[in-house]
Amino acid sequence: MSLKQEPVITIDGASGTGKGTISQILAKHLGWKFLDSGALYRVLALAAQKHGVAFDNEEALQVLAEHLDVQFIVQEDLSSRIILEGEDVTEDIRTEKIGNGASLVGALPAVRTALLSRQRAFRETPGLVADGRDMGTVIFPDAELKIFLTASAEERALRRYNQLKQRGISVNLGDLIKELHERDKRDQERAIAPLKPAEDAIRVDTDRLSIDQVVERIISEIRVKKAFPAISHWMVNKIAELEIAE
Ligand code: C5P
Repeated sequence: MSLKQEPVITIDGASGTGKGTISQILAKHLGWKFLDSGALYRVLALAAQKHGVAFDNEEALQVLAEHLDVQFIVQEDLSSRIILEGEDVTEDIRTEKIGNGASLVGALPAVRTALLSRQRAFRETPGLVADGRDMGTVIFPDAELKIFLTASAEERALRRYNQLKQRGISVNLGDLIKELHERDKRDQERAIAPLKPAEDAIRVDTDRLSIDQVVERIISEIRVKKAFPAISHWMVNKIAELEIAE
């Protein structure tokens, strides 16, 4: 007897498309688990930095990835405290330097293979919202619903700029746009698991949409998606109950 696996919704896209926030809101509404796959790559980059491993040392990074001592402690709002080797690194992994490191280590095939089963292990009852670059193409190709978010580089850089400013970190917008272009190029052109929509993904351009409007759009896709039998009735009812701000 083949066991039906828990349903998955994948939300892929470049950085700054809002996918983290959107995935988290969606998971919370649905009462599902949430995977922030980018955080895993970031934690690996931080671990590499901590242990003096270069971001291009594939062999050492593979070993590090296989033995990564990381815990995601889920909070009530579904955000996670991220613990690396017993130390809370939730904020430390969000720097631009570690973001770039994540993009470098993520381009190495052995690293991606080493992180595969860790990511799939997040698929638990009653379901999973998975956020990343290759969730719909590589990690969960059988996902019930695949969303690919896009936004212009300028809009994404501006969002990131405002986020950092709110956290009291001052950055130059021009530098941010440049870094974003470099990271996008590397993520899109890498040989393994490049950033691209799955063939069956629904593209949503978020440029002129608020976070709530994007969430609403995804929920409407859940409603209309005919091939969604794996989604249980309670969830459909739950969606019907949702009150999302206009
Ligand atoms: O999503 P976030 O910006 O936190 O991801 C940081 C970096 O990790 C990305 O630029 C990307 O290179 C890498 N990444 C990846 N595959 C994923 C998620 C993130 O290669 N599924």
